[in-house]
Amino acid sequence: MTQDELKKQVAKAALEYIKGYAILGIGTGSTVNHFIDFLADLKGSIDGAVSSSRMSTERLQKIGIPVLDLNAVGQLDIYIDGADEINPDLYMLKGGGGALTREKIIAGASRQFLCIADETKYVDVLGSFPLPVEVIPMSRSYVAREIVKLGGQPVWRENYITDNGNEILDVHNLTIMQPKALEQTLNNIPGVVTNGLFAMRGANMALLGGPDGVRKLTL
Ligand code: 5RP
Repeated sequence: MTQDELKKQVAKAALEYIKGYAILGIGTGSTVNHFIDFLADLKGSIDGAVSSSRMSTERLQKIGIPVLDLNAVGQLDIYIDGADEINPDLYMLKGGGGALTREKIIAGASRQFLCIADETKYVDVLGSFPLPVEVIPMSRSYVAREIVKLGGQPVWRENYITDNGNEILDVHNLTIMQPKALEQTLNNIPGVVTNGLFAMRGANMALLGGPDGVRKLTL
């Protein structure tokens, strides 16, 4: 199976876990795109979704699912999103698609976080995938220098502006032994909007798609 077929398989399996929920939190990325496509068949039972990006918003609207303002919805029952890496504690490294800030907001506002990913994303230690850090544009060079002091190698994601009008530094060369501590340290640098570590609020459950089927991980 190709990686995309694995993503599709896991996206389909996730439908089992949203039964009874009328409003969903929806992440961003190619795995989530498959999930949204599957929602088209269920749209009669879904009142709406809170979306983490323009890309997901457009896809949801295309299949007729109303996109709702998080402020009007309050706490969500479930947030479904992919990951660039996930470890055995269900901490994740996210933001390859640049939607990390809105993703983290919706994850925080949700009772459960269901991570859907192909099994190549499962790692013992986070950090092989470059860690995205969203920054206020004027702070970019300063934040980059602070990240170098922490041992990271920041690379400016050039010609890329987030949905929030900010820029992204992708931080290479990290072996993240203490994800919660690093998440907080990075977020304390002035100019950082947020970073792609989801350890303070990890996933509650993960579905990992592999050639032998879908594996479910819970804590
Ligand atoms: C976007 C994300 C995605 O969840 C992550 O990049 C995984 O994407 P994909 O499902 O395409 O592999 O964090 O900001």
